[in-house]
Amino acid sequence: MSDSTFYVTSPIYYVTAAPSIGSAYTTVAADVLARWHRQRGENTWFLTGTDEHGQKVMQAAEANGATPQDFTDKLVAEEWKPVLDVIDASNDDFIRTTDPKHVERVQKFWQTLHDSGDVYEGDFEGPYCVACEEFKIASELLDGEGGVKLCPIHKTPVDLVAERNYFFPLSKYKDKLLAFYEENPTFVQPESARNEVISFVKSDLHDLSISRSTFDWGIEVPWDKDQVLYVWIDALLNYATAVGYGADPDSEDGKIFASRWPASLHLVGRDILRFHAVIWPAMLMAAGVAPPQQVFAHGWLLVGGEKMSKSKANAIHPSEIVDTFGSDAYRYYFMKVIAFGSDGSFSWEHLHAVYTSELANGLGNLVARVTAMVNKYFDGVLPEPAAAGEAEAVVAAALKNAADTANEAIDRIAINEAVSAVADFASIINGYVTEQEPWKVAKDALPSGGAARDRLATILYTAAEALRGVAVLHASTMPKTALALWDALGAEAQLGSLAAQNVNNAGDWGQLRAGAILTKGASLFPRIEITDA
Ligand code: MSP
Repeated sequence: MSDSTFYVTSPIYYVTAAPSIGSAYTTVAADVLARWHRQRGENTWFLTGTDEHGQKVMQAAEANGATPQDFTDKLVAEEWKPVLDVIDASNDDFIRTTDPKHVERVQKFWQTLHDSGDVYEGDFEGPYCVACEEFKIASELLDGEGGVKLCPIHKTPVDLVAERNYFFPLSKYKDKLLAFYEENPTFVQPESARNEVISFVKSDLHDLSISRSTFDWGIEVPWDKDQVLYVWIDALLNYATAVGYGADPDSEDGKIFASRWPASLHLVGRDILRFHAVIWPAMLMAAGVAPPQQVFAHGWLLVGGEKMSKSKANAIHPSEIVDTFGSDAYRYYFMKVIAFGSDGSFSWEHLHAVYTSELANGLGNLVARVTAMVNKYFDGVLPEPAAAGEAEAVVAAALKNAADTANEAIDRIAINEAVSAVADFASIINGYVTEQEPWKVAKDALPSGGAARDRLATILYTAAEALRGVAVLHASTMPKTALALWDALGAEAQLGSLAAQNVNNAGDWGQLRAGAILTKGASLFPRIEITDA
């Protein structure tokens, strides 16, 4: 294992309804990165979870005739935890903001800031969107019918809130934040997100109301029992409390915190960028804790041009797709076709087209052809290649290039570029096999040996070794397929487990050796018909 550590988080999701492919999108992306870093031998930790306090969850519970605690307990157990298996997420931990440890540590954090003079009492008045759980800036609101002001994200009316509560002096951190962005140019990515954050901090930074007094579903303000902490300043702390923030530094949890913090990467949708890139580092600065290393904002999944959300009728549950296409195709599709950082649209037709051409007819068919030919012509035993020619050199160079491109793209969080580099390489192998026509070479190949048999051996060895590279490079995106491929290639007996293959060395040619036992297993991607039913 290398010395590097990689701690990645997804947002924690509001438990107001079942998950949608929108919320699953960030979890899958974080999972691909976590698996990739693990496959580099890094000490990796992947955290996800649920955000359970605040008005939005409280109202959803009320609408369902349940207490917020019963409502969230049920949804977390029946939906939010199971969906992680549906999408094949490999999270190391799952935090709920109702966990007593989190509650206690959040109170400790705010009590410390209160004691150090970083909290003051004042009157708040302004627009609030419950769906965002966010105080809005008047100039950013949309005009609705009859002069009603609407949230620009949800297009629903905002509430006018007037309360006496506690404030965090966010505006005081303006210069410190700007200096921090300057010194850490990759703290907010992509570049468009960074620019948005910097211009927001330069122009619109106001102090933040951190408590609410008109309802009680939240963490009690430790110095004032009549107020609860604002849901966002409770939720953001999950990234730190889950890895031991607030524990005695000499305790087990305290040592874990010292080894994991600061987080390497918070992945977030662009709707919650400001919370993560402005409020969160300012809170940590006030407490003397290091800010995370990076916040990356991705785009939205759109359906009919609108952001898909779990509370809208346009929500699609991940199972609806996975039940038909499988979790690997699901992951492949969303990670490959949407430029990570931009918005993207989902359609069943597009998913089906990509599945059919790239996975069923592409990779799946390639693996079936290669394993079948090794079985037919060499009794399933990978032959020793003879001298490699120009075409083989091209394949070997293409593998190196795919591995380097993918590894470099992962470091830029350009997940779609990484997946595409591997997919393009699979197409190159397919093209190679089609051009070399091993089935024709086989007609001239005598079982006793000779030039044609040597050539056939070279072609099939080259294809199998290239597929070894695909298995390692696709392992983070399509874990089940990669394992099935590893099995089909008989790679484990020679190279050990797939998990033990360092993705940084995936491009080194010649790792699979003659003698590997190839099996023709079940089709990796069976053809799927979709109907308009
Ligand atoms: N609870 C807060 C986050 C707190 S993090 C400390 C929250 N929750 S949410 O349930 O509304 O989920 C928000 C996140 O889910 C988005 O930022 C994004 O990561 C993901 N997505 C939800 N819908 C999405 C799309 N339609 N498209 C892409 N991602 C989406 O905000």
